[in-house]
Amino acid sequence: MNNLWDHTGAKGAGYAQPAPMVPESELRLATPLLRASAQRWPRLSEPEMVRHYTNLSRRNFGIDTGFYPLGSCTMKHNPRVNEVIAQMPGICDVHPHQPEHHLQGLLSIFHEMQHMLAVCAGMDEVTLQPVAGAQGEFTAVRCIQEYFRERGESQRTRIVVPDSAHGTNPASAAMAGFEIVEVPSTEDGRIDLEALAAVLDDTIAAMMITNPNTLGLFETDIAAAAELVHGVGGQMYYDGANFNAIIGRTSPGLMGFDAVHYNLHKTFSQPHGGGGPGSGPIGVKAHLAPFLPGPVVDVRAAEDGERTVEAGRWFHWREPEHSIGKVQQWHGNAGAVLRCWAFYRRYGRDLRTMSEHAVLNANYLRHAIHREAKDAGVDHLFVDGARTDVAKHEFTLSMQPAKEALGVTAMDIAKGLLDMGYMAPTVYFPLVVPECLMIEPTETEAKDTLDQFAKDFVAVVGTDPETLHAAPVTTPVRRVDEVYAARNLCLRVPEEDL
Ligand SMILES: Cc1ncc(COP(=O)(O)O)c(C=O)c1O
Repeated sequence: MNNLWDHTGAKGAGYAQPAPMVPESELRLATPLLRASAQRWPRLSEPEMVRHYTNLSRRNFGIDTGFYPLGSCTMKHNPRVNEVIAQMPGICDVHPHQPEHHLQGLLSIFHEMQHMLAVCAGMDEVTLQPVAGAQGEFTAVRCIQEYFRERGESQRTRIVVPDSAHGTNPASAAMAGFEIVEVPSTEDGRIDLEALAAVLDDTIAAMMITNPNTLGLFETDIAAAAELVHGVGGQMYYDGANFNAIIGRTSPGLMGFDAVHYNLHKTFSQPHGGGGPGSGPIGVKAHLAPFLPGPVVDVRAAEDGERTVEAGRWFHWREPEHSIGKVQQWHGNAGAVLRCWAFYRRYGRDLRTMSEHAVLNANYLRHAIHREAKDAGVDHLFVDGARTDVAKHEFTLSMQPAKEALGVTAMDIAKGLLDMGYMAPTVYFPLVVPECLMIEPTETEAKDTLDQFAKDFVAVVGTDPETLHAAPVTTPVRRVDEVYAARNLCLRVPEEDL
């Protein structure tokens, strides 16, 4: 049974809504909103239902099924203990509208999370509200915008992004009403300070950049870039999607940034395939803190009679003075924040080891792939995307030589890897690398997995072009016409099935 709508089941089976326990209300919905006929629902017994969803899940690919080297997405193992903690009744059965004295335990967790994130990033204050990295970007950019309005600097209408930036950076800035100024990277893929200096003036509100950048390279000139941007009165915005590579070793605050978003679902722990659910808190330096969305969790000395969970400390909500307003309710995706808190609690100071292992794994895999390719005689079919020795937590390969020699594209290789039982790496990003494959193994993969992937990757590169053009042939869905799908996007159940 692939489609629930095909299945009406045995008559009378399934679930029937019980009779209401309260009298029917006099209030009625407006006529155009009322259904003219009863809604048709599939009739299923519990085993049929369980089989349906279990079978659907087996058609999917996830980090629990296999290696998922999707660059930039940091698909790491999610420890199960986090689920246990996030689902404890005292944590998941409370509601933010309950009075503060019911919530002291939960508020202390959120307060600790805000504090930990601020310390790790070298920021002064944090809001947990945004529910994705992209929403964090938008929120921080809005705070920067309001900050300049308050200062009477409304002429700052432009935001600088490097040409290697993730697409969400210019998109978030444009959504907030900014004009985007793109600066080219140097030959080795890093910030071009001369090109940056050339676009800076008092119309610049901020520069948005990630470090390590999207090529997996640490921006060694970041402090100089910050000085240039601050020199014209602009703000530095850190896209924290790549925080996994540096956490515990350095911080955006030390590099000169004023605001950052964290992709909790990448750096910490939260299942986030298929677009969610994520968590994208932001941290800011003190001058931007009054503009944060509220409420944030604060702490004060407990008064007589207040029953505390931490001696002498009373946790409470606080609305920042010039808040831009809410971007989500309360703590956004509270469950995601809780899982990430549990993750951080288990690592503690070892977060530094975590980032070291992420970088080690990426560099090990990168060199293993090049070595295997050389041994197999296919090393002429791809080149390294970054012209440098050491990558950070991810690396890029360009399949341009394979395209020129054999007509084999990055997409063909990605599809071939699906047939080998892997999730494909990220393709065609960053745009500055032609025919790009972006690979991020994360710290949670074992050496054997990396060795096997290197061998299998090289085997795919050496596969004949005809086979690769036809791949994937082993997956439940074969190669789709992506252009057709994008142009004729259909996300609705067909009318006749309703
Ligand atoms: C560098 C970078 N910035 C921002 C984002 C956006 O984060 P999210 O997917 O949580 O919106 C991503 C996501 O892949 C990213 O890789």
